[in-house]
Amino acid sequence: MSEPAATPPPADPASAHRRAIGIDVGGTGVKAAVVDLATGELVSPRIRQKTPQPATPTAVIEVIGAILDELAADGYLDAAMPAGVGLPGVVKDGRLLTAANIDRSWVGFAGREALEARLGRPVRLVNDADAAGLAEVAFGAAKAVAGTVLLLTIGTGIGSALLIDGTLLDSTEFGHVTFRRRDAEQWISGSARERRGIGWRRWAGEFSEFLALLEAWFWPDLIILGGGVSKEHAKYARWLKSRAPIVTARFLNTAGIIGAALAAGGDPAAPPD
Ligand code: BGC
Repeated sequence: MSEPAATPPPADPASAHRRAIGIDVGGTGVKAAVVDLATGELVSPRIRQKTPQPATPTAVIEVIGAILDELAADGYLDAAMPAGVGLPGVVKDGRLLTAANIDRSWVGFAGREALEARLGRPVRLVNDADAAGLAEVAFGAAKAVAGTVLLLTIGTGIGSALLIDGTLLDSTEFGHVTFRRRDAEQWISGSARERRGIGWRRWAGEFSEFLALLEAWFWPDLIILGGGVSKEHAKYARWLKSRAPIVTARFLNTAGIIGAALAAGGDPAAPPD
């Protein structure tokens, strides 16, 4: 499935150095597009395929490969373009160290090498929420914001990115903070809300308690909510409480793609992978 891009010029070798491929591996979909690194715009269609189940490395890499083959066949890629892949877990040295919402066999698997072999181009892995943080600080709601910005992505899990004067403190993993004796995301992620069958008002009350817990530790100056659930903000915003102002992320569907591309393109704010 693909959506029209904001600006769809095919790959132009003269400007290829300013582009990178961003890939976002989520709990339900794998999405990818070519990104203009200077503007954050998507310069190819955004291609989405379902996340294979189980989401093993081999199955996910096959889906990523098929999406990139499609982009290549349509003339959007060139050989020099690096690819960034956002994954739902802690990334160190081109591997996942944790895997809450993706198959456990990713843990320790040499993902960067396997993707480089399949895609035939340099690959950088990055945590999906950290990728969203990179996108928001470069072009979105965290741009030029001084102080501490807490970004939470709410979807299958809860991801987090902490930005201090525009610098990312990577791998914060606040979705796994103990909240009501469990991992927070087991109560209040988007999929947990659906699984528990609770309404927006009750969810927002619990989410506000979670925010209060984080605020007592980090005293953020701004809270940004992203991920699939943030698209529904009109349904819950009136019940959310926090000390810091809360805003919705600028990029709802594409933050992970844009941030992964920025990481691949060597964004100075990106963590080492
Ligand atoms: C993972 C995080 C990820 C988040 C959102 C959590 O379960 O541990 O690394 O950012 O889900 O996908």
